[in-house]
Parts: sequence; structure tokens; C-alpha cells
Amino acid sequence: MNADALKREAARRALDHVRPGMKLGLGTGSTAAHFVDLLGERVRAGLEVVGVPTSEVTRKQAEAAGIRLTTLDETPELDLTVDGADELDPALSLIKGGGGALLREKIVAAASREMIVIADETKAVATLGRFPLPVEVIDFGLEATRRAILRVAETAGCRGEMKLRKKADGHVFVTDQGHLILDAHFGRIPDAPDLARGLAQIPGVVEHGLFIGLATRAILAGSEGIRVVERP
Ligand code: A5P
Repeated sequence: MNADALKREAARRALDHVRPGMKLGLGTGSTAAHFVDLLGERVRAGLEVVGVPTSEVTRKQAEAAGIRLTTLDETPELDLTVDGADELDPALSLIKGGGGALLREKIVAAASREMIVIADETKAVATLGRFPLPVEVIDFGLEATRRAILRVAETAGCRGEMKLRKKADGHVFVTDQGHLILDAHFGRIPDAPDLARGLAQIPGVVEHGLFIGLATRAILAGSEGIRVVERP
């Protein structure tokens, strides 16, 4: 099976956790897109659920699929969020934000009773950090914020380059909330909760892609089949 088929398998398995009447957080990225697609099939067959999308891309996809949408203002507490991840470790700490939607993704996950991560097995790592950690920042004081991040990172045992994210056409990437993203190439994050605490103290940092204590379960699809990991 290729990676895309594995992502779809993980997404299909997550559907087993969806019950009629649920309030769902709808993730962003290629794996979450499979979930939204499969959920749309169920909805068109009569399943009644309501969803909060984590990005404009997901909102458009969900609308086209016929999924009834709401907002966290109308529906501030959700039953379940299903989303992808760029990396996950055995404690179910995650790196997210490769697609740039980490801020809305984290707000939606934090408003959910449960969060299921769906991914192909390659996303599971012993230690986070091989995937560059996205940090969402505001443009004011960008260089000062970048240096503050490096200082905090060093205290948490991380070193590496921070690159301002750009699109393929060379223009600076701007998030759905109008912010910028610095991608931190640390290689290894020895203590993700420690780094997360430090990053949260920096004024120019809006949010970062470390999701600690949010995912309750991961559904990982590999060539050997499906593996389910529960948060220890
Ligand atoms: C979006 O901002 C991300 O957090 C995605 O959930 C993550 O990048 C996983 O995306 P894929 O499923 O496309 O790998």
C-alpha cells in the first residue's frame, strides 16, 4: 500500500469512533482530508453530526462534502477531533503545523473531549524533532522573537536554524489568522513539554506546533496493518 492508501485506512478506522449527534473537530492536511471525505459519505447516507473545521481549506472541503458546520462560538465544547500530525512520540506528544494550521488546530483540539490522531506509521518517532517545529509568530519584532525562541530552545537542549516559511512562489507564507511561521530545524527535541512551556512565555509567539497532552489516541496505518496507541 502506498502512503496515501495508508492515510485513508487510518482515516477509515477513525470513523468507527464517530457516533450520531457528535460535535466534531475536523483536522487539516492530507490525512485529515481523507477523514473529511469519508465522513462526508456517511453524512450523505444519513449520519447527523456537526463539525468545526480547523482551516479554510478544510471548511471548503467539508462544505462541499455536505457536512453541517458550526463554530466554537456556537458550539464551544466538542466530543471528538480527528486530525493528522507531522510527528508523534510514544507519549502522544505531537508536532503539528506542517500545513500551517496549527493555531486553529490546537484551539479546536483543546475544546474537544477527545483527540484522535490519524497517520501512517512513518509519523511515529521515538523522539520528536526530525520534522521542523512550526512556531506561529506575529510580524512585529520578528527578529527579536526569533532570537528569543533560540534562547528558550537552547535552555531546553535544542539547537538549530529557524527559517521563515515561504510558499513555492517565494512569497512569505501567511496563516489563516494572518500570522507568520518560523520553522525550527532542531533535529531532536529531548524534552518536548519543557520546550513547549518555554515557547509559551515568548510574547511574539502566538502558538507553537507542539501538542502536549491533547491527543488521547493515535491510529497508525502501516504495511503490517493498523496499530492503535492510547495516551499512557
Ligand atoms: C496542518 O497544519 C498540520 O498540522 C497537519 O495536520 C499535519 O501537517 C499532517 O499533515 P499530513 O496529513 O498532510 O501529513
